[in-house]
Amino acid sequence: MQREYTNDSVREGRGGKQRGALCGPDAADRYAAADIVQHVAPTGFLDLGPGYLDPELVTTDTIGRAYSAALARYGDTALAYGHNQGALPYRAALARHLTRTDSEPWMPSHLLTTSGTSQALDMLASVFSRPDDVVLAEAPTYDLALNIFRDHGLTVSAVRCDADGPDPEEIERTVEAVRASGRRVAFAYLIPTFHNPTARLVPTARRTALIAAAHRRNLLIVEDDAYTDLSLDGTPTPPSLTALAKWEGVLRLGTFSKTLAPGMRLGWLGGSPHLCRRLADRGVAHSGGSPSHLTSLAVAQLMDDGGYVEHLEQLRARLAQRREALSVTLREHLPDDFTLRPVHGGLFVWVGIPPWLPEQEAVGRASAAGVLVQPGSRFGSREPAVRLAYSAHPPTRLRSAAARLAGAWRQKG
Ligand SMILES: Cc1ncc(COP(=O)(O)O)c(C=O)c1O
Repeated sequence: MQREYTNDSVREGRGGKQRGALCGPDAADRYAAADIVQHVAPTGFLDLGPGYLDPELVTTDTIGRAYSAALARYGDTALAYGHNQGALPYRAALARHLTRTDSEPWMPSHLLTTSGTSQALDMLASVFSRPDDVVLAEAPTYDLALNIFRDHGLTVSAVRCDADGPDPEEIERTVEAVRASGRRVAFAYLIPTFHNPTARLVPTARRTALIAAAHRRNLLIVEDDAYTDLSLDGTPTPPSLTALAKWEGVLRLGTFSKTLAPGMRLGWLGGSPHLCRRLADRGVAHSGGSPSHLTSLAVAQLMDDGGYVEHLEQLRARLAQRREALSVTLREHLPDDFTLRPVHGGLFVWVGIPPWLPEQEAVGRASAAGVLVQPGSRFGSREPAVRLAYSAHPPTRLRSAAARLAGAWRQKG
């Protein structure tokens, strides 16, 4: 599955005028020609598919300054093989950041540096599963994680969800049924905070029930927490599953792909000190040290000097404007039988489609109107729906996309 990297906005000329943007129009064309990015969206479309930040939201100046400061501060050690568990300045800065937003005090020993959540999922599948094991996952869920699990020969079993999140009783029943059939459950993969694709936020009571169910069944939970830093309404998010479980039986995965840049390939794994040491004590770490070592020191620098929090405040404010632009215009123009899930954070609006409009037809009509959207079935949704990302375009373009979508979807028959 290829991801799409939009360059619509820069093609329209905004990027070129902005000093320090990640790429101007010429740069975007050069990147496409030189096969540098994963995928470039077709020209002439407003692409609401990819959950990426508009390059305008993070400047190369911010990133470049962080790397320069890290090199000045850490010198040659920034260029050596990194500590197997991850450079201490990064884990310490991260622990302080997580402690500010979670219910328990995080320590550097609770953390392991990763090169992003995708790599971490691949590592966890290597360590905690055998081919033919089962992974439990919400339906719908982040589609590309499923490909990683399938690479390891795992079968994904979908867990029913209601408005509050996955059903703990069904999780227990499924674990029992899988074990009774002679197979193993490797872990449950959950996205409780600003879920991709639905934006759902699992409340604390359901989190506690999920942990209790997992503990009763001796089930490991992998908590994918890509969007916690993108809470858009100023309200604190519930404590992480990992903190609520006091690091027992839950591993938390974070990434800077959604708040800084995916090309930095930097993330973290949070778990008990014992598990973090175990995961750091693998051949790949002994041979190569921690992944993304220099980048981790650049981000540590950004967190230490207050630059990361300042950046997050601006990013959240701008994402909130974009969310409003898309969802308010959709609400104004779409018929009542389309449903929009409330969005309090993350990058996505999840639109439920009425039965008279088949999902593929909705996607086709959107594309004919010049707007690319992701079908819900891609994420394993049982209900017809589409996912719209508001992160890659400025508000004016999002309003225009929403009006075009509403126009395309309104007509029955
Ligand atoms: C829930 C979720 N997890 C993980 C990722 C990918 O993270 P990374 O870039 O750190 O591999 C994404 C990106 O879309 C995501 O939505």
